Amino acid sequence: MSAPLLELRDLHVRFAARRGGWFEPRRELHAVRGVDLRLERGGALGLVGESGCGKSTVARAVVGLQRPSSGGVFIEGLERASARGARARELRRRVSIVFQDPYSSLDPRLPVSASVLEPLAIDGRLRPRARRMRVLATFEAVGLDAALYHRYPHELSGGQRQRVAIARALVLEPALLVCDEPTSALDLSVRAQIVNLLDELRARFGLALLFISHDLAVVRRLADEIAVMYLGRVVERAPAQQLFDAPRHPYSKALLSAVLAPRPGAHEERIVLAGEPPSPLAPPTGCAFHPRCFARERVAQDRCERESPELSARGAQRVCACHLTDAP
Ligand SMILES: Nc1ncnc2c1ncn2[C@@H]1O[C@H](COP(=O)(O)OP(=O)(O)OP(=O)(O)O)[C@@H](O)[C@H]1O
Ligand SMILES: [Mg+2]
Repeated sequence: MSAPLLELRDLHVRFAARRGGWFEPRRELHAVRGVDLRLERGGALGLVGESGCGKSTVARAVVGLQRPSSGGVFIEGLERASARGARARELRRRVSIVFQDPYSSLDPRLPVSASVLEPLAIDGRLRPRARRMRVLATFEAVGLDAALYHRYPHELSGGQRQRVAIARALVLEPALLVCDEPTSALDLSVRAQIVNLLDELRARFGLALLFISHDLAVVRRLADEIAVMYLGRVVERAPAQQLFDAPRHPYSKALLSAVLAPRPGAHEERIVLAGEPPSPLAPPTGCAFHPRCFARERVAQDRCERESPELSARGAQRVCACHLTDAP
């Protein structure tokens, strides 16, 4: 059996954080607390959860912008952090990223074609003429008119700029595109176009997507599988449709209830979570969600305060980390 395209094994990321004054002792911020995920070739995995739960940190670890503190990121069975030389270059070609703000990957002083050409020049495998052909083909693939070739980023619309950022991410023909809130800065109409483009690229090139968005409608449209994160951990993972139809973890229920239009006649109430998300500097004991958990109030389990629930399989494809969620 060949290795999955992407595998995260017990990924932890800790940051040194200073609290308050210069002379106070350094504290540790444990942003990603043991994440296991898999993504097969051509698949689309959505990563959702409140601000600060560690989504971008996972994304940055996947593309090699953040070193894991422990555990590992494996691309086609190769560990990202230990790869050197030609292998490291190959991993860089296989995985790329698109951020929320296209300006972060485009140089304002260069025509956009130069920004798309740059990864090819660094990679150095194609001759200059072939590089230009590849840039043109990539412009076409992302729906950019060749007339925009010599324009500067500030001369483009937000949607066009994001297409250029996507072209830059795709020009080395990666197998996996990590998208960290790629549509959040765009107008609604443009957002739909970019979502359609990503879906089309996936179908046309067999591109796998790791997709992060606050917009659950977008995640639902693009992802086959969804992982819900809470305070640095995955608390539930399920096929997208199943998660939307019947979320199991109380946190997933609350997250989805905020966006799903109530069905006529259904007694589904919007669940409003009490309190703020906890600080990763001082995570709650036991289940990190317990201080805000509404299911717990009914069942009142001490166990939730003491023991951190493991992600356990519920059926073939679904996993959930909750002491109160029964097997189906
Ligand atoms: N370089 C860093 N140094 C210190 N702390 C960091 C660093 N990067 C992220 N953090 C902290 O790690 C936690 C997770 O951050 P991350 O950016 O991964 O969250 P997120 O889920 O992407 O949030 P958002 O939805 O707001 O983008 C946060 O508490 C954040 O403050
Ligand atoms: Mg983020």
